[in-house]
Amino acid sequence: MPKNLRFQTPTGMSDILPEEQKYYKKIYDIVAEIADFYDFGKINTPVLENSDLFAKSIGASTDIVNKEMYSFKTKGGDSLALRPEWTAPIARAYIENGMQSLPQPVRLWYFGPCFRHERPQAGRYRQFWQFGFEVFGESDSVIDAQTIQIFYNIFKELKLKNIIVEINSMGDSNCRPYYKKLLANYLKTKEFALCVDCRKRARENVLRILDCKEGKCQPIKNQAPQILDHLCDECKTRFKQVLEFLDEIELPYILNPYLVRGLDYYTKTVFEIFTGSKESNGQGPQALAGGLALQRLEPQALAGGGRYDKLVKLLGGRDIPACGGAAGIERIVKLLKAQDEGPQKRAEVSIFLAQLGDLAKRKCLKIFEEFRKANIRAAESLGKDSLKSQLNKANRLGVRYSLILGQKEALEGIIIIKNMETGKQETIKLDKAVEEIKKRLKK
Ligand code: HAM
Repeated sequence: MPKNLRFQTPTGMSDILPEEQKYYKKIYDIVAEIADFYDFGKINTPVLENSDLFAKSIGASTDIVNKEMYSFKTKGGDSLALRPEWTAPIARAYIENGMQSLPQPVRLWYFGPCFRHERPQAGRYRQFWQFGFEVFGESDSVIDAQTIQIFYNIFKELKLKNIIVEINSMGDSNCRPYYKKLLANYLKTKEFALCVDCRKRARENVLRILDCKEGKCQPIKNQAPQILDHLCDECKTRFKQVLEFLDEIELPYILNPYLVRGLDYYTKTVFEIFTGSKESNGQGPQALAGGLALQRLEPQALAGGGRYDKLVKLLGGRDIPACGGAAGIERIVKLLKAQDEGPQKRAEVSIFLAQLGDLAKRKCLKIFEEFRKANIRAAESLGKDSLKSQLNKANRLGVRYSLILGQKEALEGIIIIKNMETGKQETIKLDKAVEEIKKRLKK
């Protein structure tokens, strides 16, 4: 091993440092509160699942399974994978834990890390966090609209600006096969003009061509038949209903006929949520929302989801409809940092506890705990012995009072209170310190 070897986080993964935790906490608190309001129960699933679960649900030919999954054989011979997303594990848990027999709908939410071996770039990581919501056992189109509404509300609560919801229908087993054939026929004569990836997609997963960002594929995509023109009556009615619900709650959206998502389990409604700007940057379709022409600010989605009515049955459960969505937390944290809206300031520290000598240090350890119990924010530097450096820290923190305990005071059961503004010092009884500080802080 080289002498000066320095370990680093694996490519595409990062530490979440103390100064960043506040953003994660803020998001968690808002998500948890909204989940509770809408009656979702929290679920955690193992970070590892059987690899086949993802191949079967997300689709063996999708990028997520084909290229990006961290899968491996255990010493016991099991094929496991780090979860690239939560929907399949939750559908597995729903079946495995007998939730099909509970009164429906069953609503579940989650918050935790996912893993995809993607090409690392800004906003695209190999370990990233998602929160999400899944509703099982309810086919009414109001659930599709409500799922979108939940994400929209969370982003509003987080004060994210110019939120753009893009929506499409992917049809179902009645109409999608016909549309796929139509698209494949259209592409037959144009295959030579497609990018390398799309040529492969044309054979394996033709719908994914609609999602291609390569410049040379855009004109071909723009002329392609659109799925919304080829939905069966049932899918058409449902889509119309979802849009009517969104209109009713005045939630602005854009119809994006190219929205196809990168996971195979979707049926009917699909959506993605972006942040927008009022200027045009050529990304994504244009919208008229609240009279403003919005344009995607970032090409990467903050959230995505949709209906997946066939997944539970595909995984061995009953024929149970479902709908949900997930959001990428790092992408939200980036916006919160830019807006500087994320963190709540830590409660201000009111007092500083300084000590000199072993006995004083021991006593301070105890008093510090008493301040915590009394809900008074206190700070200390118990590891420091110099009074000067301790008081310097007290000054930096801007506390109102410093409490100083030396060897003599500790022996006599007293403590010095220093008013940091006036510099005035007084001595009080040690066992009355918390009470006295409480009184003074009220003034
Ligand atoms: P997804 O679109 O693959 O959907 O991921 C949801 C969100 O996770 C994305 O919109 C994005 O914000 C974030 N995300 C995805 N990949 C990365 C990455 N490599 N780095 C950073 N953020 C990322 C799903 O995962 C579905 N399970 C959503 C769903 C739930 N559908 C129904 N229920």
